[in-house]
Amino acid sequence: MNKTVICPGSFDPVTLGHLDVITRASRMFDHVIVAVLVNSSKTPSFSIDERIELLKETTRALDNIEIVSFNGLLAEYCRQRRVDAIVKGLRAVSDFEYEFQMALTNKKLNPQLETIFLTADSDSMYLSSSMVREVASMGGDISNFVPSCIHNKIVERLNKGINKN
Ligand code: PNS
Repeated sequence: MNKTVICPGSFDPVTLGHLDVITRASRMFDHVIVAVLVNSSKTPSFSIDERIELLKETTRALDNIEIVSFNGLLAEYCRQRRVDAIVKGLRAVSDFEYEFQMALTNKKLNPQLETIFLTADSDSMYLSSSMVREVASMGGDISNFVPSCIHNKIVERLNKGINKN
């Protein structure tokens, strides 16, 4: 049976951890929608268009990926698009409560919708977009944290020249 899943997130910016989860989802399911969404508790550094562009470059080699953005509820979008499940990465126990709360809320809003958690790869367990932003904005090396094809774009955008003479 044809299965469509969605990988939602802020992706501000996309990291190697996100790419790992998206790649694994693309191997497991027929169609993967990557949704760049507004998290009302975060103030983003990259615009939605910039985040979409970075994701497009990052996922170019995967042929069953669609990148979207929309305003509104994830659960409602999933109903409209007949999405079978939300796929998210779990890095550590600290992620669990937040992710569990979202999964249960989405399930209440759309009882057909499952949430599947993939355990983060051991190389990217510690990674987060906020760490990438902080390290890059202070001139640190982010080459182990973000896909190489978008490394320079992120550095140019975030490096404010701290630590430079
Ligand atoms: O990468 P993030 O910031 O942890 O992702 C959170 C995100 C964007 C998936 C979540 O905030 C979301 O689903 N936003 C869309 C609006 C919505 O449906 N909110 C209720 C979620 S329980």
